[in-house]
Amino acid sequence: MKEVVWITGASSGIGAALVRRYCDSGHLVIATSRSKVALEKVILSCANPSNVTISLADLQKLDELHQLVSSVWNIHKGIDTVILNAGIGQWGNVRETKIEVEREIFELNYWSPIQTIKSILPKMEKVGFGKIICIGSIASQFGQRNLAAYSASKSALSIYIESLKEELFDSPIKVQLISPGNIKTNIMHSALTKNGTKLKKSLRAQERGMEPDILAKKIYNFSKKRRFHGIFTGIEGLALPLHRFLPSFFYFLLRRKYAD
Ligand SMILES: NC(=O)c1ccc[n+]([C@@H]2O[C@H](COP(=O)([O-])OP(=O)(O)OC[C@H]3O[C@@H](n4cnc5c(N)ncnc54)[C@H](OP(=O)(O)O)[C@@H]3O)[C@@H](O)[C@H]2O)c1
Repeated sequence: MKEVVWITGASSGIGAALVRRYCDSGHLVIATSRSKVALEKVILSCANPSNVTISLADLQKLDELHQLVSSVWNIHKGIDTVILNAGIGQWGNVRETKIEVEREIFELNYWSPIQTIKSILPKMEKVGFGKIICIGSIASQFGQRNLAAYSASKSALSIYIESLKEELFDSPIKVQLISPGNIKTNIMHSALTKNGTKLKKSLRAQERGMEPDILAKKIYNFSKKRRFHGIFTGIEGLALPLHRFLPSFFYFLLRRKYAD
C-alpha cells in the first residue's frame, strides 16, 4: 500500500521539491499552502501528478488547524508522515522591527507546527504508527543580525521537537528534525521586514545555496533512518563548529560578511 505524506509549505522552494521527491517515489502526497495556482504548478512538475492532493490552508490561522488536521487525515484515512515545512523569513533589526511582525513569524514558524503536532499526535498514537518531520534551520544555532525573531523561532522549535523526541522514546511515533543551511529558494522575497512588508529581493546566501531538489533527496533518504537530527549544509555549515569553539573569530567573519 502507498504511504501517505502530508507536506506543508508545498507551493515553492523546499516544500515543492519534497512534493516532487515523495510523489515520484510512489507516495500519496497531500500538499498544503495558501496558493492553489502555485500548488497546481508544482503538481504539474511531478511525474505522477495523480498521486498529489491539494489541501489549501493558511497555517497562521491557529484556531483552524485542529479541523485542518482532521480533514487532511480523512483524505486517505490516515497519514504516515507529516513534514512541517511551511515557514517565513525575516530581515530587520531588533530595535526597529514591530512586535506584531515578530509575532507573525512565531505564529507560522513555531506555533503552527506545535498546534499541528498536538492535533495529529493522538491520531497517530491511535493507529500505532507515524512520523513527524520538522524543518528547522542552522540559524537556530546562533544569533545574527536582522534575523533575531526568525532564528529564535527556529531555536524554540528545535528544542521543543527534541523534547518531544524524548517523550516519544518508547512510542512507535517517530520525530525528526532537519536543519538546512542556505537553500536556493525565494524565502527572502517573502521575508518580513521591520514593518511587515515583504523584502522582495534575494540574498547572496540563498542564491549560492543548495538546490532544493538536492535537499529534498537528502531529507527523503534521512526519513528512512532512525536518526533524529539531520543537518544539511554547504560550506556555511562550518558556522556551527566555529560558533561553538571559536566564537570571537566566528562573529569577526560574520561582521565582515555584513560589511560588504
Ligand atoms: N531557504 C533557506 O535557505 C532555508 C534554510 C533553512 C531553513 N529553511 C526553512 O525551510 C522551510 C521552507 O522554506 P523555503 O526556503 O522553501 O521558503 P519558500 O520558498 O518561501 O516557501 C515557503 C512555503 O511556506 C508557505 N507558507 C508561507 N506562509 C504560509 C501560511 N501562512 N500558511 C500556509 N503556508 C504558508 C508558502 O506557500 P504560500 O505562500 O502559497 O502559502 C511556501 O510554500 C521554512 O521553514 C524555512 O524556514 C529555509
